[in-house]
Amino acid sequence: MFYEILQVRMDWQWALIVVLVHLAQGNEGNSVDPTPDLYEPSWVYKCEPEEGCQRSEHPQPTNSSAANSSFMVFESLDVCRTVCGPFGGLWPRPVTAVLSTQTLKMHPNLLRFALTNAPVETREMLVEMTHVITSNLFAECNGNITEMVETPVMVYISVKSPSLELTWDTDEQYLLDVQNEVDNIVVHISAETVYGARHALESFTQLIAPDRPEFSNQHQCGLRIVTGAKIRDKPVYKHRGLVLDTSRNFIPMEDIKRTIDGMAATKMNVFHWHVTDSQSFPLESRRVPQFTKYGAYSANEIYSTEEVRELIRYARIRGIRVVIEIDSPAHAGNGWQWGKEYGFGDLAVCVNARSWRHLCIEPPCGQLNPANPAMYRVLRDLYRDIAELVPQPALFHVGGDEVYLGCWNSSEEIVSYMKNKGFDTDTEGFIRLWAEFHSKALQIWDEETMAVGGQQQPVLIWSSELTQPERIQNYLDKKRYIIEVWEPLSSPLLTQLLRMGYKTISIPKDIWYLDHGFWGKTKYSNWRRMYGHVLPRDPNVLGGEVAMWSEYVDAQALDTRVWPRAAAVGERLWSDPRSGFAAAEPRLQRLRARLRARGLRPDVVSPEWCAQHDARCY
Ligand SMILES: *[C@@H]1O[C@H](CO)[C@@H](O)[C@H](O)[C@H]1NC(C)=O
Ligand SMILES: *[C@@H]1O[C@H](CO)[C@@H](O)[C@H](O)[C@H]1NC(C)=O
Ligand SMILES: *[C@@H]1O[C@H](CO)[C@@H](O)[C@H](O)[C@H]1NC(C)=O
Ligand SMILES: *[C@@H]1O[C@H](CO)[C@@H](O)[C@H](O)[C@H]1NC(C)=O
Repeated sequence: MFYEILQVRMDWQWALIVVLVHLAQGNEGNSVDPTPDLYEPSWVYKCEPEEGCQRSEHPQPTNSSAANSSFMVFESLDVCRTVCGPFGGLWPRPVTAVLSTQTLKMHPNLLRFALTNAPVETREMLVEMTHVITSNLFAECNGNITEMVETPVMVYISVKSPSLELTWDTDEQYLLDVQNEVDNIVVHISAETVYGARHALESFTQLIAPDRPEFSNQHQCGLRIVTGAKIRDKPVYKHRGLVLDTSRNFIPMEDIKRTIDGMAATKMNVFHWHVTDSQSFPLESRRVPQFTKYGAYSANEIYSTEEVRELIRYARIRGIRVVIEIDSPAHAGNGWQWGKEYGFGDLAVCVNARSWRHLCIEPPCGQLNPANPAMYRVLRDLYRDIAELVPQPALFHVGGDEVYLGCWNSSEEIVSYMKNKGFDTDTEGFIRLWAEFHSKALQIWDEETMAVGGQQQPVLIWSSELTQPERIQNYLDKKRYIIEVWEPLSSPLLTQLLRMGYKTISIPKDIWYLDHGFWGKTKYSNWRRMYGHVLPRDPNVLGGEVAMWSEYVDAQALDTRVWPRAAAVGERLWSDPRSGFAAAEPRLQRLRARLRARGLRPDVVSPEWCAQHDARCY
């Protein structure tokens, strides 16, 4: 029986090969050049009331279609999406928008920006912001806009505040008004801050789409702009973050910048940079060059101080604050193992220990040595370097998760330090030691911040054993620590901390972790699941983050792992719409196309047929 099946299969294979050979030969003999007219589809897209953009079943290259709004038939799916539905192709969905369904051809060369009422302090940054959006528009046609256009687009930008500070108090709201006047398009942007104006500019670019008539020349591309729009917009949450881990695997600067571009496209505003961990220390410290010498994977896997400074600037122009995290006292090993050699004693313990299971969550182990005063001196130098780099007022993340008491307990030096201090060597004693570390580290951070002219600011810290409701008030001052809660959804911790008056950032690991589904028993969250999660509306929930831990990702798959899923969280945190994923998906498809134009490689959302037939796949 098995033999027979095998035989049949083999026959099939031979049969196939024979047919293929015949085909090939046949082609050689009487080959007819297929004419493109016969074989290439020439779909058009209709915007239908409840259905969104639908590929037309009876493609008829109508001439006036793209411009013909009364008919709502488009030659380009991108243009269809930009006008179809109450929020067109906007992502994240603004709070309110009224969009015209008419479009006009436009060309970025005919874009003029006028900074009316913009304080001197903000002008330079506004100019840079306009450069970013102009180049994003060219990118929509792959840098080659072939259509000649004569309609100028005038953009008047009015910003009230001279402040360039990016904090939780930054006013990000904006008004965007687009009108079609006699023979030009006039755009008015008004915002309190440059960052609000930047968000308006981003929304403005989302009112423009590439028009590539499929049935004309494939290589032609022009842009069309919605001729009327009124958008009034502001974020629901002030903290809309993305964590990127660059320690487990190094992520080159250009890939980080591309990630920042994606965040800017989705109005996310905090790049939480988990730059170091026990695996590697790629961050250059001018005062402590040993960190990279002993901690970087290679000479090519280091972020120089200059690169970091440039990244911070790059992010600011895109309305994004860079929050550097130096995880501590756990998650610190490689980069800290040179103390003995320099006469400083052990700066960290358990570093790269062989039998790791009792000493850390994953290899390689390592925890800072809180018994060694030299460790605090080195930490101070590192903090000073960071304080000098980041603009004030700075937001810093001290890490603070997953301390393995067994690691500290395995060090005689630490245990005897504890005995001298009168700490028990039971769990609570080690918790005291852990809290003492944070209190000393915070004091050092404060001192170094003030030394560079800054002021005391709260810091971020991960939830942990230390932040349990029965302990936290003994150790962490609610004015100084914002708790980043990464417990699973089922955990009551977030609610408990809110009830106690702590400010929080929410990042439920079983739903907003982008690495889940790639290791162990973790479950992958698709964008719909990520989008479906809603945070409590409480003034002490500053916002949320989505996390790309890098154990199983590097630059090769970064974009597909992060995008467009992070954008789902971006919209949840920006406007927190009550409508479900069905209202979002066509806009997400447009966002994906936009990210691709800007050089990202976002993962696919659906079969392309579904993308061409909104609402027909759910
Ligand atoms: C479209 O219209 C232009 C002029 O308006 C005409 O030259 C052209 O032949 C028309 N094409 C089709 C496919 O009808
Ligand atoms: C739109 O299409 C309809 C039907 O083909 C046509 O009658 C009308 O003139 C067109 N309008 C414009 C502005 O081209
Ligand atoms: C731009 O597109 C035109 C028209 O298809 C083509 O002739 C030209 O070579 C392109 N230019 C570049 C720089 O790609
Ligand atoms: C630390 O080690 C001692 C001696 O082995 C043990 O009695 C104690 O329970 C340990 N403490 C913790 C928190 O594990």
